[in-house]
This record gives sequence, C-alpha cells and structure tokens, in this order.
Amino acid sequence: MQKITKAIFPVAGMGTRFLPATKASPKEMLPIVDKPLIQYAVEEAVDAGITDLIFITGRNKRTIEDHFDKAYELETELELRNKAKLLDIVQNILPSHVRCVYIRQAEALGLGHAVLMAEHVINDEPFAVILADELMDCTPNALSQMIKIYEQTSSSVLGVNEVRREDVCSYGIIKPTIKAHKFMKIDAIVEKPLVDDAPSNLAVVGRYILTPRIMKLLSATDKGAGGEIQLTDAISDLLDYESIFAHKIIGNRYDCGSKLGYLQATVSFGLKHQEIGNDLTNIIKSLELD
Ligand code: UTP
Repeated sequence: MQKITKAIFPVAGMGTRFLPATKASPKEMLPIVDKPLIQYAVEEAVDAGITDLIFITGRNKRTIEDHFDKAYELETELELRNKAKLLDIVQNILPSHVRCVYIRQAEALGLGHAVLMAEHVINDEPFAVILADELMDCTPNALSQMIKIYEQTSSSVLGVNEVRREDVCSYGIIKPTIKAHKFMKIDAIVEKPLVDDAPSNLAVVGRYILTPRIMKLLSATDKGAGGEIQLTDAISDLLDYESIFAHKIIGNRYDCGSKLGYLQATVSFGLKHQEIGNDLTNIIKSLELD
C-alpha cells in the first residue's frame, strides 16, 4: 500500500455565491476569524501527513501563492518593530518539509477538470483532494480519519455527511451498500440528483482519497451536471473497476461556500478563539437581550 503524501487543493472556482467579495480575491482566502479558509485546509493536510501540496489555481491566484510564500517586506517591518509573536506567525504558516506546486486551470471547467490538471504531478500515486470551502472541526482531523480507512482498504475513500433532504441537489450523493464498522462500501454515486431520485442523503463533503486510476477516467469524462466536468462522474466510472468506501466524518462541518455556513463557522471559531472568545460570548449575549 502506497502512503498518501500528495493533496490537491482546487481553488480555481468562480465563487459566485460570495460575489462581490470574490470578484478580485479567491473564495478560499476568506478568513474565519484570522486565518483564511485555505490555511485551515492546508493545516489539516499537513497534520494528516501530506508533504506535497498541489494548488489548482485560476484567475486571481496571486494572493494564495503569496500567502504561503515568504513575505520579505512584512517580515523586515515586524522585526524592526520587535513584533516577535507576529513574526513567528507569518514565518511559520508552512513547515519547512512541505513542498508547494501551483498549476493554472485556464478555464473553470469543473472540479473534475481541476483535479485532472494535476495528473503529471500525481504520478500514478493515490492522493487526497481537499475543498477548502468545506471547513471541518474534528479531532482527529477529517483527512486523518479517512487515511485510517484507506490504510485498511487500500481503496478510494470519500468523506461524507448527512445533509437535509432538500439539499441533496447541491452535492454528490452516494448509495451505500454494506455498512462496515465505521465506514461503508459504495454501490453508486450521483452528482446533484433531484430530491426524489437521490439514493440517500449522504453527501460527499469536500474530502476525497482517490486511487490514480481516476486520472485516466477523468480524461475520458464528458461534461455533466451544470455543463462542468464532474469529479463525481469519474468516481462513478471508477466503481466499475475498484471498490470505493465512504466514511461519515466525525466532527463539525461548515459549508463555507454558502453565506450562512460561513457565518456559522465564524461565530463558532470566534467563540473558541483564545484572544476574542470571551468578549464575543458577551457581545452575542447582549444581542440576545436586545
Ligand atoms: P464549487 O462548486 O463550490 O464552485 O466548487 P465555486 O465556483 O467555487 O463556487 P460557487 O458555487 O460559484 O459559489 C467546488 C470547489 O472546486 C473548485 C472550487 O474552487 C471549489 O474549491 N473548482 C471548481 C475549481 O478549482 N475549478 C473549477 O473549474 C470548478
């Protein structure tokens, strides 16, 4: 069994639900309290043992590259002002053993197309895909939970969560078969089904471990739901060749691609934040009294 050391972060989407905030800046740079979404995703990957971070970027890519790069001017300025704590924060966003690769997706043709852009870097190895707008607050973290199952099955593993019946039309939805102890085997998967056609309410929520065969299948995948090349369609084809498992992620999930999910995450992380948690609690209490 090959170890999972590479993770793809597709960050080239249009982020239409967050316009105008995402007009000139990627959705993945929206902060939850004081860290951008993409940093939470990268920290999850690195904690799970990932060493190669592959970003699929598009328009407005610069801020993400800059965020994970050295910031000479800022660092010099912080040093001059004796701001040691802040200097430490900006200098240690990434540990030194981690490598970053940036690949440009010229046109936002869909998540499947974004993942396929990394084919030459993946090099016939199993890999993870993390969508940063799905923020997870779990211990152990979501990807680590899934890697544990990959280590038992040597198969692709999808992170899933129950969603409201009326929301199934926004997700890839699985049809589970055998329910093993903590994870289930998948019988089918369908992208954005109509409520009445959905095989369950178990949605894939931005976490994937995939075997390399998916790349060949992606390159033969036609446009699907929404006119985009869908990762879900290639995963459905993968079922003809290999077993695929799903793991119900244990912990809290925030859909930060939607305004309400984003605000929920902001409040939840704010309340737990060392520096502002107590004050925010008091502010919210005072709002409740109004
Ligand atoms: P979404 O379906 O959330 O689309 O993409 P979006 O464009 O980001 O946001 P909305 O729906 O318009 O508000 C899921 C993930 O796939 C990436 C996105 O950046 C996001 O992380 N993606 C999507 C790409 O990298 N390329 C694409 O062509 C499409």
